[in-house]
Amino acid sequence: MLSHTAQLAHRVWSYVDRVGSFFSVISPVSVALFASVVIVAWFVSSSTWQYYRLRHFDGPLLAKISNLWLFRSVDSGRSYLDFWEVTQKYGTIARVGLNDLVTDDPVFVKHMCNVKTEYRRSSWYDGMRFNPTSNNCLSTRDEAAHSALRSKMAAGYAGRDVDNIESKMDNNVRAFMGLLGRYADKKAPVDLGRKVQYFTLDCISDIAYGAPFGFVETDTDVYEYIETTEKNLPMVMVVTVFPWLLRLLNSPILKGLLPSAKDKLAFGRIMSIARDVAAERFKPDVKAERDMLGSFIRHGLTQTESESEILLQIAAGSDTTASAIRSTMLELCANPEILRKLRQEIASANIAGDVITDSEAKVLPYLQAVIKEGFRIFPPIAGLMSKEVPPQGDTWNGVFIPGGTRVGYSIWAITRRQDVWGEDALKFRPERWLNISSDKLKEMESTLDLIFSYGRWLCLGKSIALIELNKVFVEVRFRVALRKLTANCVFVSHSSSGDSTLRCAIRISLTRYSTTASLPNHKSGWMSQEQKRRNEDMFIVGMME
Ligand code: HEM
Repeated sequence: MLSHTAQLAHRVWSYVDRVGSFFSVISPVSVALFASVVIVAWFVSSSTWQYYRLRHFDGPLLAKISNLWLFRSVDSGRSYLDFWEVTQKYGTIARVGLNDLVTDDPVFVKHMCNVKTEYRRSSWYDGMRFNPTSNNCLSTRDEAAHSALRSKMAAGYAGRDVDNIESKMDNNVRAFMGLLGRYADKKAPVDLGRKVQYFTLDCISDIAYGAPFGFVETDTDVYEYIETTEKNLPMVMVVTVFPWLLRLLNSPILKGLLPSAKDKLAFGRIMSIARDVAAERFKPDVKAERDMLGSFIRHGLTQTESESEILLQIAAGSDTTASAIRSTMLELCANPEILRKLRQEIASANIAGDVITDSEAKVLPYLQAVIKEGFRIFPPIAGLMSKEVPPQGDTWNGVFIPGGTRVGYSIWAITRRQDVWGEDALKFRPERWLNISSDKLKEMESTLDLIFSYGRWLCLGKSIALIELNKVFVEVRFRVALRKLTANCVFVSHSSSGDSTLRCAIRISLTRYSTTASLPNHKSGWMSQEQKRRNEDMFIVGMME
């Protein structure tokens, strides 16, 4: 036995020796040349093979033979439009990369995402790891681990064992209105797009772990969080299509470029807040809180998991709702007749307190139609969110999709399909949701719901987002004063901010307007403070850019 091992060792050694002497007689230039040839040959053969696998799907030529089309599109910040155009031009499942397809078929998306699906999250989700060293619910691809995490957080997200979600939101609505009021009193221009994000960040931090960050109170981009996430989002989106970049960035040499809890500002600072908040909750004998984090911990979330989930709540729960609020507000400003109808409904609504409750808002049909139409015309998350086809492959509408292919969906295309929304699908028209058959309404609602994903991966924060929107469009009671303004109302999507969520700057000027004097209650002198506040509006009186 021993002599056998010795013989083997001898053979290995003589092989190494021969390879060594081969390289000692050839020059470094030849070695480099040889290596380049091997790399090019590998690249060409693997691209050819990849091209061949998905050759039956049409798409832009560059996307069929390389990943350059996808890179260029995602890096440009306009991939939501590219994916839409591609599905229009090349068919309902189109090719956008060597191993990437995109679809605009809502039924196929439901097939990929339903609770019993064999599809899995693809490497696209590696880019959603906000803390470079640990996963969160959104970046977790292992399905057993993902379901376990979701079940620990389901009750908290549904608000089942959490106190005061609504009253905390109301406080944040009041603070937001106070901030806008201060600008109105100063007659200073304000970027409504930015202030809306202050509001959503404060809201989510308050309900998630008990204290607003203080964006609205200080009227500043606390810790430069917004500025840096806007700057870094394009990189995040590039990582979703080239996940190996994450491994590269995590290497010891480049690790310094990633955010860290040691940073004083930006995302790193939020990471350290998350770490401190989680550590506080896991101190011995600490009182169990009745907020969302408290609920997660009661259901078994560990300290490390808590840190990651706090970050996810902030990242997933602020930009999304902010996008929905500002895009819908822009549409309201640009469509005075729709704004008038909404205001009319609010004026005759039965609202008991100074901030509308979720249940009061849910029964206002025009408000609900405005919210849905806002989501439809401007879905807040427009990334591919690709799922991976199961190893044995799948056949959809008679076409075989090989196992391991990444299939994403273009939500922008889905919410513009004429067969679902009608010929005027590009128009913001809340009326399309009213006075239609219950079957049509069901079809439209279940298609729109895809903006929150579906089934196994349905957004956990959906009901929280809806409460926020139900309040904000009622409480920010804008009247648009100048027709000129409406002509200037356009979406400004900062191309530098990537494409997962879109931002718009809305530079406006506000002035106060009170309807109190014209109300009978005012004359009889017993109007409550709340009612007075409710009857104070703000005009948008101009747009700076
Ligand atoms: C209008 C607002 C929002 C939209 C359109 C939205 C949409 C989405 C989408 C598309 C996903 C991806 C699911 C997938 O993997 O396919 C998601 C996941 C998620 N969202 Fe939202 N979201 C919104 C607001 C929120 C809010 C306010 C919160 C937190 C309070 C939140 C928390 C989450 C979480 C935790 C996940 C991960 C779910 C999982 O991995 O199972 N979202 N959301």
